[in-house]
Amino acid sequence: MTLQEEITRRRTFAIISHPDAGKTTLTEKLLLFGGAIHVAGAVKSNKIKKGATSDFMEIERQRGISVATSVMGFEYEGKKINILDTPGHEDFAEDTYRTLTAVDSVIIVIDGAKGVETQTRRLMNVCRMRSTPVMVYINKLDRPCRDPFDLLDEIEKELQIKVRPLAFPISSGTTFKGVYNLYRQNISLFTSLERQTADATTVQFDDINDPELDNLIEPKFANELRSNVELVNGVYDEFNRDEYLKGKLAPVFFGSAINNFGVRELLECFLEIAPSPGISTTTTREIRPEEEKLSGFVFKIHANMDPNHRDRIAFMKICSGVFERNKNYLHVPSGKMQKFSSPTAFMAEKKSVIDFAYPGDIVGLHDAGAYKIGDTFTEGEKLKFTGIPTFSPELFRYIENGDPLKFKQLAKGIDQLMDEGVAQLFISELNGRKIIGTVGALQFEVIEYRLEHEYGAKCRWEPISIYKACWIESDDELALKDFKLRKHTNMAKDKHGNDVFLADTSYALSLAQEKFPKITFHFTQEY
Ligand code: G4P
Repeated sequence: MTLQEEITRRRTFAIISHPDAGKTTLTEKLLLFGGAIHVAGAVKSNKIKKGATSDFMEIERQRGISVATSVMGFEYEGKKINILDTPGHEDFAEDTYRTLTAVDSVIIVIDGAKGVETQTRRLMNVCRMRSTPVMVYINKLDRPCRDPFDLLDEIEKELQIKVRPLAFPISSGTTFKGVYNLYRQNISLFTSLERQTADATTVQFDDINDPELDNLIEPKFANELRSNVELVNGVYDEFNRDEYLKGKLAPVFFGSAINNFGVRELLECFLEIAPSPGISTTTTREIRPEEEKLSGFVFKIHANMDPNHRDRIAFMKICSGVFERNKNYLHVPSGKMQKFSSPTAFMAEKKSVIDFAYPGDIVGLHDAGAYKIGDTFTEGEKLKFTGIPTFSPELFRYIENGDPLKFKQLAKGIDQLMDEGVAQLFISELNGRKIIGTVGALQFEVIEYRLEHEYGAKCRWEPISIYKACWIESDDELALKDFKLRKHTNMAKDKHGNDVFLADTSYALSLAQEKFPKITFHFTQEY
C-alpha cells in the first residue's frame, strides 16, 4: 500500500463525555464491531470512580489499565481505526485536553436523560478552539429521555455548534421502538434481547409514509415519526460534510450503547465522513501527512507501573512520513539522534512491537525520562508543532520538602512529573517557593503518592490562596515592567521561565485587566 493509501484509510479520534454518559460502553461496542474484542466487558474502564480519592492502590491500578487502553487500534472494513482513550475523571481533564491535540475528529457521548453536562461543555470548548470535527451520539434511549428536539436545541446552544440529526429516535424508555436512520433511510428496530452481540434488525424504508411502518411500530409511533422527520427536514439544512469537517456542524445520532443500538449506524457514517489525518501546523510551516519524511510529536507521557524502573512510555502521534523501527530520528529539543528498537503499537488491549507506523498512528516510545510533552521527532528538520495547550490550573498549593535528606529526589520527582503533565509548577517571585497548580484535587494525592513510591521523596502541602494563574504578555516593555513591579507579590515564573500573574480573587483579576489595558492575560499556554 502506498503512503497516501495508508493515510486515507486511517481514522484517529477520541470519544469524550461527561463521566457516566457511556463513553466506555460505546468504545467497547465499537471494538466489538471491529472484532478487536470478542466479548463485552473486555475493556476495563480507566475511570477512577468518584469517592476513590484516597484509595491510592485504586489510582495505581487504574493508571495501569489506562496504559493498556490509551490507544485502541483496530481494522474495520479496510479502515484502520485508532481510538484514543481519555480519562473519565474530571480531575484528569488536562490529560484529555492534550489527547485532543492528537486526534483528527471526536465523538461526543451525551446522556439522553441529562443532556449537556459541565464536562461536555469544557471538552467542546477545546474542540472548538481547534476546529475539530465533532459527531454527537445521544445515549441511553432505552431509558426515559428528554425530548429529542429539546436535546438538539440544547446542544446547539450550549456547545455552540450547529447540529444536523442523521438519525431520529422513535420514543424512548419502555416504549423505545428504534431509530430512523435519516442518512441511509432505514429503520433499526429495537429489541433489548440483542444486547451483547450483533446489530438490531434493520428494515429499509425509502418512504416512511409506507403503511407497512404502522404494522412494524404501531400507528401512533409511526405517525409521530413521520411528523418528526418532516420537522427535521424542515428545520435543519441538508447535511453538509464540509461544514462538519470545519468543525461548524455536528451530525447527531441516537441510540443505546449498552444495547448495542445505533452503534453500527454511527460507526458506518463515521467511517464515511470523518477525516483522515490532515495538515499539522508548526512554528515554521505546515506539515502535510503525505510528506516523505517523518515528523511527529509527543502528546502524552505515561509512567511505568514498576517502582524499580523509572521508565516511561511517551506517546507520539505521527504527523507525516513513515515511522520505522531502528531508524535514527532527531529529537528536536535535545538535538540528539535516537533510534527505537522496540516501539509499540496498541491493538485493543494488547501492546506489540511494530516495524512501521503511518500518519494518524500513535507509537509508544520507551522513555528513560528524557522526553517532555510537546517534543518533536523528525528526520533532521527543527520543527516545533503548535497547538498543544496547557491550561490555567484551578487549584494551588505550596509544595515543601518533607524529608531534608531527600532534597534531590524531590526536585527530580517534581521535575519529571511536571514533564509528564501531571500538574504545573510555578516559582513565586516573592519568596522563591514552589507552587503546584492542578485542575483537580486528586492530582495532589497522586503527586504525593508517586513522589514517595517512585522517587523515595516526601512532600508536604501548604495552603495558598490563588484564584487563577494567567500568563501575561505585552508589546509595551515598559508597561510590562511596571505591571511586574506593582504586582511583585503576585508574580511567578512557570517551568519555562514565562511570567505568570497569580490572581488572588476573580475581582483582583478583573481589576488588573481593567487597570492595565496594555497587558494581555492568557488562560492557556502552548508547550
Ligand atoms: P463513562 O465511560 O462515560 O463514564 O460511562 P460508562 O460507559 O462506564 O457508562 C456509565 C453507566 O451507564 C454504566 O452503568 C453503563 O452500564 C451505563 N450505560 C451505558 N450505556 C447505556 C445505555 O445505553 N443504556 C443504559 N440504560 N445504561 C447505559 P454503571 O451501573 O455505572 O456501571 P456497570 O456496573 O453497568 O458497569
